[in-house]
Amino acid sequence: MAKTLPALLDKMWADYVAINPLAKKVYDLLTTEGEKIQNDHIALRTFNHPRVCVDVLAKPFLESGYSYKGDYHFPEKKLYAKHYEHTDDTLPKIFISELKLEEFSPALRAQVESYISQIPAGRENDFDFSSQGRPWKVTTTQYQALLKESDYAAWLAAFGYRPNHFTVLINVLKNFSDILFLNEWLKKKGFHLNASGGEVKGTPEVFLEQSSTLANNIEVTFDDGKLTIPACYYEFAKRYPLKTGKLYQGFVATSADKIFESTNRGQ
Ligand code: NI
Repeated sequence: MAKTLPALLDKMWADYVAINPLAKKVYDLLTTEGEKIQNDHIALRTFNHPRVCVDVLAKPFLESGYSYKGDYHFPEKKLYAKHYEHTDDTLPKIFISELKLEEFSPALRAQVESYISQIPAGRENDFDFSSQGRPWKVTTTQYQALLKESDYAAWLAAFGYRPNHFTVLINVLKNFSDILFLNEWLKKKGFHLNASGGEVKGTPEVFLEQSSTLANNIEVTFDDGKLTIPACYYEFAKRYPLKTGKLYQGFVATSADKIFESTNRGQ
């Protein structure tokens, strides 16, 4: 079990590339071009249940030099999120969102309650809980039922606790400092980008531009069979300086709202 921040970050990356071979391919291609990759942020997903809410998942990070820096509301997707920054600004920010269960049907709430009751007592306090994977049984039927209400709930039920995405910080790339150029290069290499709300979300005026690949589909083993479903995506972020000269470090809710759709089915 990872017990230190560097070990946890390594474990998260290893787990992420294992189920997301396309992200590893992008990473390898950029590295081959001579780029040194720095992560802007890592995104985690959870439910707003008291046992596993954002504040619980954030604990190991808060104990390791991170502090809370901002929060975000996504009314349409019924999500709330917080972001955390480390005192060492070369380490990735941590962005944790939670699904607001009270805004969903009694059926969805009961289903999620049954998932959470399967987590062994105290397991959520493990230092590396956020990269332990799915701690509950889930069937293909449950997955399909959750999808009708929330792509996010279905993704979380299927994959459990693991990074939803890593994000490349464009600013430190030598030859891909323009997000449009990077996007064209990715498409030429055969990657599909999330086009919801345009390929580039955000503008220099809001101090943040983001794009992302579409999640690759992988075969997931459920407790009653297998389904091929969207896994994770790779994101790219370019940050712009504030009047103070320092790069903006927050997130833009209207952009993130569209980025969430990178794991939706059928895009
Ligand atoms: Ni992100």
